[in-house]
Amino acid sequence: MSGTKPQLRSQKWFNNPEDPEMTALYLERYLNYGLTREELQSGKPIIGIAQTGSDLSPCNRHHIELTKRVRDGIIANGGTPIEIPVHPIQETGKRPTAMLDRNLAYLSLVETLFGYPIDGVVLNIGCDKTTPALLMAAATVNIPAIALSVGPMLNGWFRGERTGSGTIVWKARELLAAGDIDDDGFLELVASSATSVGFCNTMGTASTMNSLAEALGMQLPGSAAIPAAYRHRGQISYHTGQRIVDMVHEDLKPTDIMTREAFENAIVVNSAIGGSTNAPIHLNAIAKHLKIELTNDDWQTLGHKVPLLVNLQPAGEYLGEDFFRAGGVPAVIGELMQADLLPHPNAVTANAKSIGENCSDKRSITAEVIHPVAAPLGAEAGFINLSGNLFDSAIMKTSVISTEFRDRYLSSPTDPNAFEGRAVVFDGPEQFHATIDDAALNIDEHCVLIMRGAGPIGYPGGAEVVNMRPPAYLLKKGIHALPCLGDGRQSGTSGSPSILNASPEAADGGGLGLVQNGDRIRIDLNACTANMLVDEAEIEKRRAALPADAYTPPSQTPWQELFREKVRPFSEGMILDGADEFQDIAHGTM
Ligand code: FES
Ligand code: MG
Repeated sequence: MSGTKPQLRSQKWFNNPEDPEMTALYLERYLNYGLTREELQSGKPIIGIAQTGSDLSPCNRHHIELTKRVRDGIIANGGTPIEIPVHPIQETGKRPTAMLDRNLAYLSLVETLFGYPIDGVVLNIGCDKTTPALLMAAATVNIPAIALSVGPMLNGWFRGERTGSGTIVWKARELLAAGDIDDDGFLELVASSATSVGFCNTMGTASTMNSLAEALGMQLPGSAAIPAAYRHRGQISYHTGQRIVDMVHEDLKPTDIMTREAFENAIVVNSAIGGSTNAPIHLNAIAKHLKIELTNDDWQTLGHKVPLLVNLQPAGEYLGEDFFRAGGVPAVIGELMQADLLPHPNAVTANAKSIGENCSDKRSITAEVIHPVAAPLGAEAGFINLSGNLFDSAIMKTSVISTEFRDRYLSSPTDPNAFEGRAVVFDGPEQFHATIDDAALNIDEHCVLIMRGAGPIGYPGGAEVVNMRPPAYLLKKGIHALPCLGDGRQSGTSGSPSILNASPEAADGGGLGLVQNGDRIRIDLNACTANMLVDEAEIEKRRAALPADAYTPPSQTPWQELFREKVRPFSEGMILDGADEFQDIAHGTM
């Protein structure tokens, strides 16, 4: 922030006395759809609206409507809105993965914000990857930016029970595998969770990332949780439009808001909300684009001991509308502050107030949905960061370990937080789906299911496939979860306690590529280790015999090829190599 009013960068295009010819050329084409010289030349900030809503992106599509209110707010406060199309990213529609497109949408938005006369930007966030992609772009170009969630869908219901988007799929798959429902029943049950416009109503990756965008200070307080269909959503869109104009005048930039302190706050909030295992990837990535060092160790150090306060599926029972009515993110932060658990109440936010000023007097309205710290839903809701000869870093969300799982694997009187099992290895999700019910694999409750070839390089972008269901014959016996481990990701809507995001991945030389069916696997949650009990000489022998491209199938598109050459592991945010320098490249030339 600076005291003097900055020269608007848009005026270098539209009102440059040193170059009237170019000014005329820039002006004439932006006038052609009806913009006036007054709007472009009188020093009104030009506000980009980074539009992620489209027919291809149903989760964010409601932004098309909300943008009308954003425009109204911008104009009412003396700005000129310009809508910017963003490369579409739909979590459930994109092959092979939506995650592959996060860095692509990032790159294209950077190029747009850099190359056009934009003074500030509203980031239309929502579906999983849209939030990090847009925050990464704002970090790199570092012009005033504010995020606007599209909001979650209304609650889903089926026969009187809440059905949460994504989460219900995992349950429906088990019911289908056990023969309790047929294909039509499967669709009916799954579709019941998708009630209205908006993003997933569970605390999956979308709600997580939208909540964390607010915890980082990049949204107006209370914005993340408002359901897409509520009138409050239109109203906060108007206020967001108003506010970005002031942010331009105040020169309040992403680097002023997204500081190391803001990330530490966000890590704590992530634990309290029971946030997705995708959050460390995305926040580590956003931080890298700001030249802030953030690692999976930080997540364990700062986040693991924080209690779970929010009772939303998949860790709990409720859904997005309930979260909103209970007070949303400000209430969570207020509860954390009361217990002195928010590390940096002074971190500044998009409304120019500190997060402490915004939230200190906010409290849970419904204690059943947002618990107080004194009576949490669970202890130690954050992630632990494991390492060993299978990988250097992989995370596990210990708060979703079920009683059944704990009783079976983590209740040895002598070694209560460790277990050993026999490896059953799947090379990619296709092999898993084709063979999981095959009796020849001889899977029993003493097995550890391993997924590999599913990381950023192996399955470009990294597939959400590490949470693997047991074979149907075990489900019928009442065994609902086996230990799972892998170099892919897992949907934030899944409640499975997998060890995932393993880095480096098998396709990048990780130890997962060397494990074989039948190897003993030892996992120790106290020591935070995961190892194959195979001696070093044997491991080296296997490594020498492994073809270089063993876990990298051919690329299907040019972007896949470029992405695979440049991508860093999940532990480093799956950024493009050199991303910590990108801000320097743009800096000073904006
Ligand atoms: Fe888009 Fe969940 S699939 S938010
Ligand atoms: Mg997802």
